[in-house]
Amino acid sequence: MPDKSTFAEYLEKAQVDYRFRTLRSMELYNRSRRHMPGGDTRTAVFFLPYPSFIKSGQGYILRDVDGNQYIDHLNNYTVQIHGHNHPRIRAAAEAQLSRGTSFGAPHDKQAELAGILCQRFPSLEKLRFCNSGTEATMFSIRAARAHTAKSTIIKMEGIYHGTHDTVETSVFPSMDQAGDFNRPNPIPSTPGVPQGVRDHVKIAPFNNLAATKQIIEQNRDDLAAVIVEPVMTAAGVIPADPEYLEYLRGITRELGAVLIFDEVVTSRMSLGGVQEMVGITPDLTALGKYIGGGMPIGAFGGSAEIMDMFSPAGGCMSHSGTFNGHPVSMAAGVETLDMLDRTAFERLNKLGHSFRSMINEDVFGPLGVRAQAKGVGSISYIHYTDRPVNNYRDAKRAGEAVGDLPYLVHLGLLNHGIWIAERGNTLFPLPWINKQSNRPSKPSSKPLLKSCRCWSRILSF
Ligand SMILES: Cc1ncc(COP(=O)(O)O)c(C=O)c1O
Repeated sequence: MPDKSTFAEYLEKAQVDYRFRTLRSMELYNRSRRHMPGGDTRTAVFFLPYPSFIKSGQGYILRDVDGNQYIDHLNNYTVQIHGHNHPRIRAAAEAQLSRGTSFGAPHDKQAELAGILCQRFPSLEKLRFCNSGTEATMFSIRAARAHTAKSTIIKMEGIYHGTHDTVETSVFPSMDQAGDFNRPNPIPSTPGVPQGVRDHVKIAPFNNLAATKQIIEQNRDDLAAVIVEPVMTAAGVIPADPEYLEYLRGITRELGAVLIFDEVVTSRMSLGGVQEMVGITPDLTALGKYIGGGMPIGAFGGSAEIMDMFSPAGGCMSHSGTFNGHPVSMAAGVETLDMLDRTAFERLNKLGHSFRSMINEDVFGPLGVRAQAKGVGSISYIHYTDRPVNNYRDAKRAGEAVGDLPYLVHLGLLNHGIWIAERGNTLFPLPWINKQSNRPSKPSSKPLLKSCRCWSRILSF
């Protein structure tokens, strides 16, 4: 790291360069702010001084309204698994558009996508569609409460499960508020959630088996569900220890509680998600993101015993939504999954692995940067520390120690034509669509090499 004043100079230069390259985006941002707070409708994609406005995407390339071109390492946070404007997905969506968009009735593509998902994910005997990952975790939790007739939910510190009330606690708590690692303080992630909701949510420390055991034990009489991502993604792509997941599986079964895996993001790690990789089957699974081929989607499902509660013919739970099972999302989803066989996942994961090796061995190593690209399969996260990162606090402390460095890297990479997330500089490898022919092709490591060269340049203080 350079000294403070040199760092400030770098940052200022990156901001000036960024503004210079994105004048039209700035105009649009200022116009958008008149009617939308922050000029947008999605907090996660905001950054200072203002985000670039994207005009189009093709394969692994994004173009902004200012004419800048970027290698897209973000894939809309894992959604665009085949890149942008994939010809087969577009054709499937267009075919559905020409037949009509929404009918207020079931249709065949919905059953087709449900069938594919149930075949792939070990826990899914039956499922239902909704419109987002948020809804998927929300309905999973409600189903667990209905099934057990209990109220308490245990979630892990540092895991993001969407934006509904029950899961808006201890998502990214600051270290000065978080309290004892063995007994994390429940920290509201947003105002506006009634205390009555919070009272039924208990926070456990991810990967801390002894402390989690204690917290579950203390809540055993009213435990409806434990919800967990089998790999914690937003806070740093940190896998759960297998013993940790095995314990959660065993204890929830013993107590008659429901184990929910949030695989909204981790489902991208293999054909049958992380549950297949680790051989642990939850009672319910929440899905979203890539399974709709770039269209809005969510899904939740699990054992027939629990899911049959949602049957209008005899079940006790209602689950409606004007756009549930939207025909265009279903059609795009079927096509997307059709192109994702085991070999495709292997290729994609190999790219993730290559990226991590390249950046660790060819960038961070030679430059002496104390940082690591950590990840699972195709999802990588940059931790600015050389110490082990096994839970939210390890990641958060490392992030707090380097201040604005991830922000500088983010702006620097944007200025060099590399599109990534600001938070944790999260990265996904590139989809396999050939930029020139617009046809699917094998994934190429060329853009990865280009990205790595940019990282080297930016971190060569
Ligand atoms: C693990 C996880 N669960 C749930 C969600 C919520 O999904 P959505 O943004 O579709 O509501 C997200 C979103 O990023 C997520 O990362």
